[in-house]
Amino acid sequence: MPIHRRFTAKNALITLIALLFLALFLHLKAELWDREPVVAPVEQDGKEEKAQQSSATGARRTAVVIASQKTEDPKWLDEYFPQWEKNIYKVDDQDAPLTVPKNKGRESMVYLTFIIDNYEKLPDNILFIHPQRYQWHNDDPDYDGLPMLRHFQLAYLEKEGYVNIRCAWSLGCPAEIKPLEEAGEHRAAVHAGGDYKNSFELLFPGKEVPKHVGVSCCAQFAATKDKILQRPKSDYEHYRNWLLETDLDDSISGRILEYSWHMIFGKESVHCPTTKECYCNVFGLCELECKESGSCIGRYILPPYATLPDGWPFVGWNKEERNRSSAEE
Ligand SMILES: *[C@@H]1O[C@H](CO)[C@@H](O)[C@H](O)[C@H]1NC(C)=O
Repeated sequence: MPIHRRFTAKNALITLIALLFLALFLHLKAELWDREPVVAPVEQDGKEEKAQQSSATGARRTAVVIASQKTEDPKWLDEYFPQWEKNIYKVDDQDAPLTVPKNKGRESMVYLTFIIDNYEKLPDNILFIHPQRYQWHNDDPDYDGLPMLRHFQLAYLEKEGYVNIRCAWSLGCPAEIKPLEEAGEHRAAVHAGGDYKNSFELLFPGKEVPKHVGVSCCAQFAATKDKILQRPKSDYEHYRNWLLETDLDDSISGRILEYSWHMIFGKESVHCPTTKECYCNVFGLCELECKESGSCIGRYILPPYATLPDGWPFVGWNKEERNRSSAEE
């Protein structure tokens, strides 16, 4: 039955070709039509909208974790950054929606508690910050957190995994703590003294205590979910247990963690990029004129006191009227 056979062979060939076309069609459809839009992090050199950028796409979640007290109300964040998820912890209020197991170790207890309680459902970008808009350590000529956060480059964070939200060196860089030279010293107040070495050994067992530790001060930084997940949850529980159990004063235990976050998130013990580089990467301010000593013209200077005057930024240190030294934008 040669004819019948030829027919079968021809039919088989046609079927095969049809199937190949169908497969090609399905493949192309999947590739070209059905794909989720891919959102690439956007590098920008202007200012503003940075914050809005990635969350407006709906692709990545950005959150702030705020270590505050009952009396502090960080509503300025709602007003200016409505697109960010807010996690407002009240360390001194056990009835607050978000609080800590024990009010100890300053902001570090809040940051660790957030990570532990949200480890399985972390937002993509997390900014760990203090509540007030104006704070002496905010890296802004008016100590204003608004332009500081508006300029913050989420795209850079997404690339780095961890970014300190401060560039000025005055306080923290280039080597705030010298654990070995200061071993045995117990000067409270400013330095963590010898306590740093002992605590480091407890916090990071098996790791060599660094000779110098430096990072721009004051425990406001950002980390990505991916970076945080590079450590097991048990590490963060271990740090928090240390904090819960330590006999050290809050000012010291808080400070020890303040000078550990950068290492927890994978940076060298001295993490002090030049201010020129840092302002450009972290805040998109790339045209500054900067000095070796770790400051840039027109940017942060250390204020005379840690408490800003009432009425700041329109009332100065001697109750004199003053104007803002830079824009809110
Ligand atoms: C503040 O700025 C206004 C408008 O430029 C100016 O008239 C005023 O003198 C300034 N005040 C101070 C205290 O510098």
